[in-house]
Amino acid sequence: MIEFVIYREDKQPEIKTLHSREVILGRSAISELRFTERFVSNRHARFFFQDKKLFYKDLMSSNGSRVIKSDGETIHLQGPVRDPVQIEKGDKVIVGNIQIMVETVSDDEEQLEWTMTGRIQTGGVETIVDEEELKTTFAVLHRFTLHAFTAKEPKEVLDNLALAAFALFSPVSQMEFISAGEELTVEYAWNGNGNPVDPSKIKIGESVVREAIRRKEGYILSAGEGAAVIDLTQTSSASAMAVPLWLDQVPWGVFIVKRQIPMNPFVMNDLRTMTMFTYHASTAAWRIDLTRELDEAFESTIRSLLAALDMRDPTTSVHSLKVQALAMRIADEMKLPESSKRIIRYASLLHDVGKLGISDEILNKKGPLTKEEQEKMAQHARFTLDLLSRIKFPKYLVLVPEIASMHHEHLDGKGPLQVKAEEIPLEARILAVADVFEALTAARPYKELIRATDVHLLMDQMAKGHLDHEVIDALVRSLSL
Ligand SMILES: [Fe+2]
Repeated sequence: MIEFVIYREDKQPEIKTLHSREVILGRSAISELRFTERFVSNRHARFFFQDKKLFYKDLMSSNGSRVIKSDGETIHLQGPVRDPVQIEKGDKVIVGNIQIMVETVSDDEEQLEWTMTGRIQTGGVETIVDEEELKTTFAVLHRFTLHAFTAKEPKEVLDNLALAAFALFSPVSQMEFISAGEELTVEYAWNGNGNPVDPSKIKIGESVVREAIRRKEGYILSAGEGAAVIDLTQTSSASAMAVPLWLDQVPWGVFIVKRQIPMNPFVMNDLRTMTMFTYHASTAAWRIDLTRELDEAFESTIRSLLAALDMRDPTTSVHSLKVQALAMRIADEMKLPESSKRIIRYASLLHDVGKLGISDEILNKKGPLTKEEQEKMAQHARFTLDLLSRIKFPKYLVLVPEIASMHHEHLDGKGPLQVKAEEIPLEARILAVADVFEALTAARPYKELIRATDVHLLMDQMAKGHLDHEVIDALVRSLSL
């Protein structure tokens, strides 16, 4: 007689008594000790008596088993070596997250039978992890997240996922990423050394991929379970993990890790680890996707505003592009940080969009403007601020509306917004110089351009009350005048 006490989550302990000298643990209906969890193989293992001793033998199950002796020694039963292990009082057998505690093993001479009492617990009751394995996983995870979350392209994320899988699960024979668009495509593939290989040469295990997407979680395939795996690896002893990746609610693709080593199939712990990595990979790729979408939404808003300006006043639109080029030259010459250059790039392009608010008579007037008209025209800087403040700029460009609107400010505070010298940011002072210089030279064909020294002198004059001398110097240097 063999007696088990079965503990399951949220349930009363269940005692199972079996009149047998041998007990098969497995998922198949004929198992005496049956578990329906997926990580249990059909014929997973057996308990049996020999020479009055109880033994446990893993029957080459897909995910293996572990025996934890009462003194803490752990015996892994996976891979090619799975000799029977003697089970004594207090020893535990672990299969996936099922824990079987053997409480008593006694010899009933009269019945010539043995009694074994076991406790079986499932679900996160006790997780026993190999310390070395844990250290490796953390080191690989650390490296992976650093790279994945700073990646600029989804492919970089996947390359790093392949490197991580290679570091964690070697020996692997091949890895693939099959993208799940309308059609399944092997988008990337890596060999057993983690190096990229030509994906077009790889045949898709379509049913394997569809199954992973259907399940919405990863699973382990062993030989015989998926024809595609056998096709690809040309061996009957292959094992593979197929894990789906999602972008928000949409399937992105399936990552497959294959191993060709006989008798060394992937186990549940491998799948859990791989799932954790693919989850991070999905999140990292989704972040790239979102950022890209936000950038595109922002850029399209800017383009649409510039198109409106171009329809209304093509001269100003051309002027804006030239001012941008000049302002960027000055910024380079002054060795401004990238953060300032980005602001200048947008502020220069948008500085005159406020002209959309100026009436046609003034905007398109051929002759010089009257004083009253000049005053109205001067309002365009404020209109630029009004318009641009309504656009949601990304954080790193949040100063663009303010800088753009200050392009007519004078150092002496006599500009339209009456902002004074040190209160005018350097970016706006650069914009002012570029704007004035472009206006001075725009009307003339290149050859008739007033001599460089004249420009210099003119700017010098203006520097007294209007423009920043250092910025003018930088412009002159940048144009090699
Ligand atoms: Fe302007």
